[in-house]
Amino acid sequence: MQDAIEILKIYNQDHIIKLLDKLDETKKAELIEQINKIDFHQIMELYDNTKKEIEIKENKIESIKYLDKERLSKTQRDEFDSLGEMAIRKGEYAVVTMAGGQGTRLGHTGPKGTFKLDVYGKGKYLFEILTENLKEANKKYDTIIPWYIMTSKENNDETLEFLEKNNYFGYPKEFVNLFKQGELPLVDTKGKLLINKDMKIKEASDGNGGVFSSLRTSGMLSDMKERNIKWVFIGGVDNAILKMVDVTLLGMAIKNGVKIASKSVVKANPHERVGVFCKMNGHPKVIEYSELPEKMAEEIDENGELKYGESHIMCNLFSIEAIEKVSKEYLMYHSAFKKNSYIDEDGREIIPEEPNSYKFESFIFDSFEFFDDIAILRGKREDDFAPVKNKDGVDSPKTAKELYEKYWERQKCQKVRVFLKLLSRF
Ligand code: UD1
Repeated sequence: MQDAIEILKIYNQDHIIKLLDKLDETKKAELIEQINKIDFHQIMELYDNTKKEIEIKENKIESIKYLDKERLSKTQRDEFDSLGEMAIRKGEYAVVTMAGGQGTRLGHTGPKGTFKLDVYGKGKYLFEILTENLKEANKKYDTIIPWYIMTSKENNDETLEFLEKNNYFGYPKEFVNLFKQGELPLVDTKGKLLINKDMKIKEASDGNGGVFSSLRTSGMLSDMKERNIKWVFIGGVDNAILKMVDVTLLGMAIKNGVKIASKSVVKANPHERVGVFCKMNGHPKVIEYSELPEKMAEEIDENGELKYGESHIMCNLFSIEAIEKVSKEYLMYHSAFKKNSYIDEDGREIIPEEPNSYKFESFIFDSFEFFDDIAILRGKREDDFAPVKNKDGVDSPKTAKELYEKYWERQKCQKVRVFLKLLSRF
């Protein structure tokens, strides 16, 4: 107790000292345990950083090199595909789905993966769509891909219950592993940590960059190594046509001898809310839409295309060594100023109408900077990217449904064409 109070004094958290006085013994013990786990120095440093300008020195930034999947020669494509296919058939490939986010922007209460997209009449849950994708790959490559799902403290139980209830949509349960990501406290504009309804310090998920350290601390990285996994795809939960198993991307990474690879699509317009690839100080990097200076967003290259036009679509591939390396590195935190309810000193719940506090998140793509090179494969928007982000308008269930149904119509037509071609040979 005394140690906890000392820490709180050093970091000017008097409101928590007052709160401790009011709690019964059990609640007090819980709060002290939480205080002892929090790195106050780190949190205060992050808070101080919110007052500094984000600096992007443009002279050190270059556009990124990529290969366009559509423009690969037949020899090149065949080589990539067979290298990728071989690794998958040998059981060296695993998939991680980052599902720690809630569907708040979507207006969905619950884990985002439990959102039902209104496709083909009956509808499909986002988790169901991902499972179908993996099951198809398993059939095609005669394997069972281990699937790791990152949840958060907030949504883990609900996610597990949902998957159990739906019998993992037919995926072999022993190949599905859930693990939880970390959390960080929320801080108000004066540097005070918010108090939650349960009389503890209010914490929130620490961003999808937490995936690497969580993979290690949860034992999932060891599990992957035991299974002899060499490549790990890490994707989000909210792209209805996300290709989690793309032999071309994997083969390209193997052939190029790189540790990381990613799929991009051409940015729809300069202000689309996607991160963009570039090279900063010679290292691969993504600049998030919220941090991209307008001038850079609109810059045109000698071919009349956006200079920073390769969008990060959360379709990333890491070698197991890359995951191991990044899991031990410190990824920078970004801050987002948001509305967060809290309990005030009189024990009342305050629901703010304006943003009142900072949330700190690390981003998965900040890991790219730890490497000299990345293999980028430019895909096609209509084949690779149907984001489900907002309730209405762009990147909404409506636009994703359209993209999803059109994609599968094209796949069906393609199958018929191949069948007719085969038939014509007889
Ligand atoms: C994200 C990317 C952006 C990219 C866009 C493509 C980041 C920071 N930004 O933006 O560069 O262009 O997708 O659609 O990645 N998640 C967690 N835990 C968290 C936070 C997020 O698991 O703490 C998961 C979400 O469940 C989701 C994915 O990460 O699957 C994307 O997260 P979100 O915060 O929605 O990022 P966007 O703003 O959409």
